[in-house]
Amino acid sequence: MSVGNNDLRGTSKRRTILKSLLGVSLAAVLSPILYVAGRYLGYVKGSKNGDVMIAQSDVSAEHPSKLINIDDQPVLVIFQPDKGVRAFTATCTHLGCTVSYQPEMPQFYCKCHHGRYDADGVNVEGTRPKKPLTELTITAKGDQLDISLKPKTKG
Ligand code: FES
Repeated sequence: MSVGNNDLRGTSKRRTILKSLLGVSLAAVLSPILYVAGRYLGYVKGSKNGDVMIAQSDVSAEHPSKLINIDDQPVLVIFQPDKGVRAFTATCTHLGCTVSYQPEMPQFYCKCHHGRYDADGVNVEGTRPKKPLTELTITAKGDQLDISLKPKTKG
């Protein structure tokens, strides 16, 4: 009789171990799937609905521009003495190169075909880009800036 009880206990232990292994295997398989689905839906921190937080001190008169990525799109956050901190899409509207900000001009510049945009992101006539850069929404949250891919509303 006692040998039978030991067999039952051994079988029960094996079942518990197998259930644990099955749980770990399921977690290993589902984690990447849930991560990708979360990124797609914008629920993963850092890409939530196309937003990125930066410190307000990251952009200033001493450091007038910062290139960041929001959901794999380049964005330029700039400081202009007369207008403060602004954010613009940094993808050239000509053929998609990444533009830079030249605070001394001030202007946005695309080195691929010498495209230029004025300080408000408007394409300069006579250069290749035919459409302006898009100004994006910035929301101050304490000492942080929430930069969004959402276009800034005029007003
Ligand atoms: S890609 Fe920028 S000017 Fe052509």
